[in-house]
Amino acid sequence: MPALKTPDLQGAARASHGTGPDAAQAMADTDLMEKLVSLAKRRGYVFQSSEIYGGAASVWDYGPLGVELKRNVKEAWWKSMVHERDDIEGLDAAILMHPKVWEASGHVANFTDPLVECLNCHRRFREDTLLSEQAAAASDQLQCPSCGTRGKWTEPRQFNLMFKTYKGPAEDSAEIVYLRPETAQGIYVNFLNVQQSARQKVPFGIAQIGKAFRNEITPGNFTFRTLEFEQMEMQFFVKPGTDGEWFEQWRERRLAWHREVIGLDPDRLRYHPHEKLAHYASAAGDVEFFFGGSIGDEGWGEIEGIHNRTDFDLKRHQEYSGKRLEYIDPAAGERYVPYIIETSAGADRTTLAVLANAYREEAVEGETRVVLGIKPSLAPIKTGVFPLVKKDGMPERAGQIHEALRVRGIPSFYDESGAIGRRYRRQDEAGTPFGITVDGETMENGTVTIRERDTMTQARISQDEVERYLQERIG
Ligand code: GAP
Repeated sequence: MPALKTPDLQGAARASHGTGPDAAQAMADTDLMEKLVSLAKRRGYVFQSSEIYGGAASVWDYGPLGVELKRNVKEAWWKSMVHERDDIEGLDAAILMHPKVWEASGHVANFTDPLVECLNCHRRFREDTLLSEQAAAASDQLQCPSCGTRGKWTEPRQFNLMFKTYKGPAEDSAEIVYLRPETAQGIYVNFLNVQQSARQKVPFGIAQIGKAFRNEITPGNFTFRTLEFEQMEMQFFVKPGTDGEWFEQWRERRLAWHREVIGLDPDRLRYHPHEKLAHYASAAGDVEFFFGGSIGDEGWGEIEGIHNRTDFDLKRHQEYSGKRLEYIDPAAGERYVPYIIETSAGADRTTLAVLANAYREEAVEGETRVVLGIKPSLAPIKTGVFPLVKKDGMPERAGQIHEALRVRGIPSFYDESGAIGRRYRRQDEAGTPFGITVDGETMENGTVTIRERDTMTQARISQDEVERYLQERIG
């Protein structure tokens, strides 16, 4: 194997269970995040929103490769949660909901962060974050991270994180509506619609993927904390009393999904139980990934939350809507409000974890090879197709192979420009797991070479075998 030049994240992750990586390591990991931002832009994974206007802070756009990667992450989730199960139904609820939904959910009253403003430079920060970062007991001990002034702050003000807008023609007479801060509430208000139309029996779940919006005070760290993001949420309705058992099951299943389906390094994954519970939860914890740098708790950042939400949400919607949200058990003739186990993953954070997990640099023949070792099932492009030279019928033959793969639904990229080694490197950096080369032998006997990104080994197979070969390895 070529020498690994990338910072030893795995080693850091192992060392950081409980203690966190040391300062030097954290610095190296920050460097990794910078490299990722640069590669993401160069290769068309992620661009800053509205870049030509100087950029919109903490909002990002997914480019040609990024949109494919994120779609593959979401499709893998939908397949595991909906298509492979009889007991979970899909839903696509609207972003805008009745404003009372957010009163019932507790978001109007409680979805707030304590905001303080520096009296010198007027920058605003979350007081709780500053207190924990600076291990301080009160704001008069806090130093402004922006201008360095100590102890000069406004009184904390509760700042609601929901984006507000107006429904109707004139702001003064119109109804306030909110951009949803989580997709979950669209599931709760549709609980009986889905249960009855799909004829589901408790225990069963409802899954949804969609945009959510939060006016975060301190967003940042690339796509880790943004104002607009996508959630992949599943709410599992269970009989009260069985909730503890289901919580454990979902906790284990979701960790296994990140490990086995998404391919995140087990040494960089952990489950972190919450000590302080949200107003709706009786048990909760996060699936965390070790990103390194300044993300989360010494590099460990939440990618998914698992919550036992009890019967809080359905009971509150019963109370505020005046409609019963009870399940009637047909066998026992019992009625009850189910408990809910929620699994709430971020599509953007999971996609960022895939990129951070995949990035590596290797020394190969005196040069640095940058590789995105993304799992073939998630890779945006599955194979490159290259004519060795631009003559002797090779471009035409390579073009036919490329076209045939595309028609069969295997994303392929045709490239005839530059030396073959450079073409391989370009695809290594884009995360493409395979490369097919048409050479002189192809024209004589119909065989091509197939190169694997991770090992750089090459095999020669018949042109007719290419599709099967790739299908077996893409999964
Ligand atoms: N319904 C429960 C809920 O929304 P959460 O822990 O606040 O729970 C779930 O959010 C997931 O959504 C997080 O684990 C994270 O992956 C993602 N997420 C939350 N806020 C985010 C933000 N500002 N930017 C990007 N992703 C975010």
